[in-house]
Amino acid sequence: MSKSASGPTHLGIIMDGNGRWAKRRSLPRTAGHVEGLKALKRVIIEAKEQGIEVVTFYTFSTENWKRSEQEVSYLMHLIVSKLHGELAFYNRHGIRIRARGDLSALPQPVQEAIAKTEAATQSNSAITAVIAINYGGRDEICRAVGKALAASGKQSVTEEEISQHLDLPDLPPVDMIVRSADEQRLSNFLLWESAYAELAFYEKLWPEWGREEIQAICQEYRLRVRKFGGVE
Ligand code: IPE
Ligand code: IPE
Ligand code: MG
Repeated sequence: MSKSASGPTHLGIIMDGNGRWAKRRSLPRTAGHVEGLKALKRVIIEAKEQGIEVVTFYTFSTENWKRSEQEVSYLMHLIVSKLHGELAFYNRHGIRIRARGDLSALPQPVQEAIAKTEAATQSNSAITAVIAINYGGRDEICRAVGKALAASGKQSVTEEEISQHLDLPDLPPVDMIVRSADEQRLSNFLLWESAYAELAFYEKLWPEWGREEIQAICQEYRLRVRKFGGVE
């Protein structure tokens, strides 16, 4: 097996460091989240240029409910306002928005904004941006196992059946997972699919990311040799 000539097809991003970005400027953490969403727009545009088909953005984890009520509600409002307010941007760039996670536990306005934006962008085909929200890898696996057992009527499930019952089983598997802000952990992101994903960690805080980071990630990915347990 040789180096990837192209790709990644599906990139997962753990967007981290919004709070630190704000703290360094003596701003409230919420200012970091606003700036982080600007980075997301720069990144999706370059991802499209690079021919990436899917980018999954880790937006809110099943553990992020532990944050202050004020920060959580600010984030939820910000997400609703960006889903509605950036529709022209998504359509102009051919961005299809999809969501992944336990959406049923999100506040009603967030669920509605997601459903509306998914419907309004479903025929866009340049790139898919997946928002992982109220997403936890363990939670997703538990939900998938439950659905797979119910669907098969058996007492055990195969890896293939679990894969088919993950949140967005029609998407290509994640090729590479990257994280900003110098933390080197997955924090419950895409646990099932990370089994053979390439990993890379970057120092820059998420609000500082732009086109250069995506170019560097694509270059790095193309140097990786993927063996999937086989031999070169
Ligand atoms: C990532 O930035 C955004 C979310 C997890 C919602 P953080 O808010 O975790 O930023 P730091 O880690 O505190 O700097
Ligand atoms: C991971 O970041 C979650 C998201 C990026 C949405 P966190 O900042 O919540 O992760 P930990 O707590 O540092 O592991
Ligand atoms: Mg963090």
